[in-house]
Amino acid sequence: MTEQTTFALIGTGRLAQSQHLPNLMRAPHVKLQTICDTNEELLAAMHAKYPVPQATTDYREVLADPSIQAVVIATREDMQAKLTIAALEAGKHVYVEKPLANTSEECQAVVDAQKRSGKHVALGLNRRFAPAYRKAREAVMAHGGAHNIHYRISETAWHWHDPMRSRVITEVCHIFDILRWFTDSEVSSVYCMEARDDDEAFALQFENGAIATIMSTGYSSTDLPKERIEIISDTGGVIVEEFAELRTFGYSDFDHVYRFAGHAHPDQEWTPKYLLAQSGADAVHALRRMAWELQEEAKENVEDKSCSAQDVRDYVNTRVPIWNYMGDKGWLSAVDHFAQCILEGRTPETATAEDAWKASCIAHAAIRSRDEKNIVKL
Ligand SMILES: NC(=O)c1ccc[n+]([C@@H]2O[C@H](COP(=O)([O-])OP(=O)(O)OC[C@H]3O[C@@H](n4cnc5c(N)ncnc54)[C@H](O)[C@@H]3O)[C@@H](O)[C@H]2O)c1
Repeated sequence: MTEQTTFALIGTGRLAQSQHLPNLMRAPHVKLQTICDTNEELLAAMHAKYPVPQATTDYREVLADPSIQAVVIATREDMQAKLTIAALEAGKHVYVEKPLANTSEECQAVVDAQKRSGKHVALGLNRRFAPAYRKAREAVMAHGGAHNIHYRISETAWHWHDPMRSRVITEVCHIFDILRWFTDSEVSSVYCMEARDDDEAFALQFENGAIATIMSTGYSSTDLPKERIEIISDTGGVIVEEFAELRTFGYSDFDHVYRFAGHAHPDQEWTPKYLLAQSGADAVHALRRMAWELQEEAKENVEDKSCSAQDVRDYVNTRVPIWNYMGDKGWLSAVDHFAQCILEGRTPETATAEDAWKASCIAHAAIRSRDEKNIVKL
């Protein structure tokens, strides 16, 4: 039997249900020993659903348990840095969700705690482990590296009009991180403009001369795929659509098209993975269009008061794939790699607390640029 690292999960909310719980149950190098959530009802429901030996509402019990070697923390940005520091001080390795914290100072405190502890901190900046992005990076690096990148990240009705829960900090942090990873360089300046709250364009300059633009919007539609990256290298380049399809252009030593099957969520009766493997981006477009039509149909029932908004969500969610699970954004392989590195005493390739601090510094520089209407140097 494969050797396993003993884990606890703190926070069994939406992300844990769509990713961490199913992933920690099936990752070959992970034994999930304990789940923890302050919400008793939710914790009981998750404990009934997943065969995990222990459940507790008190994270201090998790940290005091000597059998736990590592914790996954998926609470929220207001608690994640504090819990990470407490876990490091208790001698645990930590896999913590993004954004690590709202401020760069809190991220820096985690960097310091990690150095003092000698334990590993992995950030849930998981796109570094997405198979489509790993292949894209390999192709781009073989052709002189990334010079010019465009990234679109869009979401339906994700605009909070709240400076403390801005998309720049909570969502675009993923993109700042992945652009550093693709360019193999640090951001030297950023310029940000907004059309509306949470509807922004960013221009980044990197120390090695590379440039990138990001379109981030919280006003998209379900039928528009969420993420797309285009990269220009020395000559030619690559495009990745929604983690499902990579196309290379001008690279005779790589195939023109690669398709990525993604995952099947254990809660769903059927899986889109064969569709994605066979039809790539076309399958994503068709599945999203279906979901959008169902949503529009169901909304009419809300408008004539025949069902609630929750009924609409349930109606749609049981009939279409769970998007966040369908495309492989690297969650499962990142956490399993982390567990394996702990067993083997190796330094993991996952994003670090320092990477989270860098993403946070870029996010705050972008917010300053937007507010002051100036280029901000880092
Ligand atoms: N990596 C990604 O792509 C990705 C995707 C979605 C969400 N996230 C991040 O994951 C984190 C969680 O998001 P979510 O949508 O699951 O939030 P959520 O609010 O649905 O879940 C958080 C859970 O943590 C619990 N909790 C809070 N404080 C706790 C404590 N001290 N001890 C134990 N439990 C506690 C809450 O009761 C809740 O159940 C956020 O930081 C979010 O940004 C990351």
